[in-house]
Amino acid sequence: MPNLFAHIIEFIKELYPNENPVPLHVPRFSGNEKKYLIDCIDTTYVSYVGQYVTRFEDEIRHLTGAKYAVAVCSGTEALHVALLLAAVAPGDEVITQPLTFVATANAISYCVAQPVFMDVERSTLGLDPEKLNDFLLNNGILKSDGKCYNKITGRKIAACVPMHTFGHPVRIDQIIEICQKYHIPVVEDAAESLGSYYKGQHTGTFGDIGILSFNGNKPVTTGGGGMIITNDETHAAKAKHLTTTAKKPHPWEFVHDDVGYNYRMPNINAAVGCAQMECFAGVLENKRTTAQMYDQFFQDMGIPFITEPAHARSNYWLNAIVLKDRQEREKFLAYATEKGIQTRPVWRLMPHLSMYRHCQCTAFETAQWLEDRLVSIPSSVRI
Ligand SMILES: Cc1ncc(COP(=O)(O)O)c(C=O)c1O
Repeated sequence: MPNLFAHIIEFIKELYPNENPVPLHVPRFSGNEKKYLIDCIDTTYVSYVGQYVTRFEDEIRHLTGAKYAVAVCSGTEALHVALLLAAVAPGDEVITQPLTFVATANAISYCVAQPVFMDVERSTLGLDPEKLNDFLLNNGILKSDGKCYNKITGRKIAACVPMHTFGHPVRIDQIIEICQKYHIPVVEDAAESLGSYYKGQHTGTFGDIGILSFNGNKPVTTGGGGMIITNDETHAAKAKHLTTTAKKPHPWEFVHDDVGYNYRMPNINAAVGCAQMECFAGVLENKRTTAQMYDQFFQDMGIPFITEPAHARSNYWLNAIVLKDRQEREKFLAYATEKGIQTRPVWRLMPHLSMYRHCQCTAFETAQWLEDRLVSIPSSVRI
């Protein structure tokens, strides 16, 4: 085993010869970031009013093909607002996956709703459409108000949030089809999948609303940031209103007609985002080449490497391998850390976290299988 581990470490060091230790995923600022930041300061447009916010939203609309984009301060905020737009209300339920970053479940909690966890599939690492269908077939009931209710708990199933894990698209068309049958809005958590496509369409644009993250560890960063994307004009207008403290436009009066949020992305952050977008095509190419090199190497080693699912083109945000079992996972994580290579297990499953232990979930043997074995390996753009 140490021999196998040593080969992996050696290969990663060859991929990233200029980094010691080798980080998991760091941002790169090789374009106009400084220039645009200085422009913000020189013009005094540092807050959420400013040309870079609109420009960044336009860039994201252009890339994703979404009709509308509303920039906010984080992917988590984007998720929170997206769920509010989907009319998730206190006491409702929202279906999502146990294998996700905690923000997905937290945003549901911010709406005082309950997550219901449904298993993922090995091929996509995301929500399993067959298991979703089985659950709704057995437990979902459409009532006279046109909404779907959970027969077991009696609560309304107000939304479904699939997540494109590590940038690999889920089988989103099938998930949408199932949810449409039960009148359940779909909010796509595309936080990790900017630049990922399913059947030629950008992730986050299939559902009623999608969200993106521009956190420091994402392929396009604004320091911290997020985006709500949608093709629905009403959702877009409401998203902008809610994230701007629900202030009614007026030259001097402060009139707010809802409990809004101060979630709008500042111009400074958007300026960095605009510069990052100018380099994004190269970033994607670089990441996909790195993934190909990993794929070839791990094929030779006989270790499964996670590749893009069928019909998908992935951004390969985080590269990951599947080790034999949890014991091997632990040994590898310790070995890599000792050798100066940052590696990470996948997230602890949501139903294992104290806040979500009580939530309803279907059997999640695939998510558990993956939690025991998945390890993320260095994935930064190589320079
Ligand atoms: C799947 C997923 N959802 C939501 C988020 C939240 O995004 P942010 O960190 O920008 O709040 C992240 C991560 O960063 C994520 O990976």
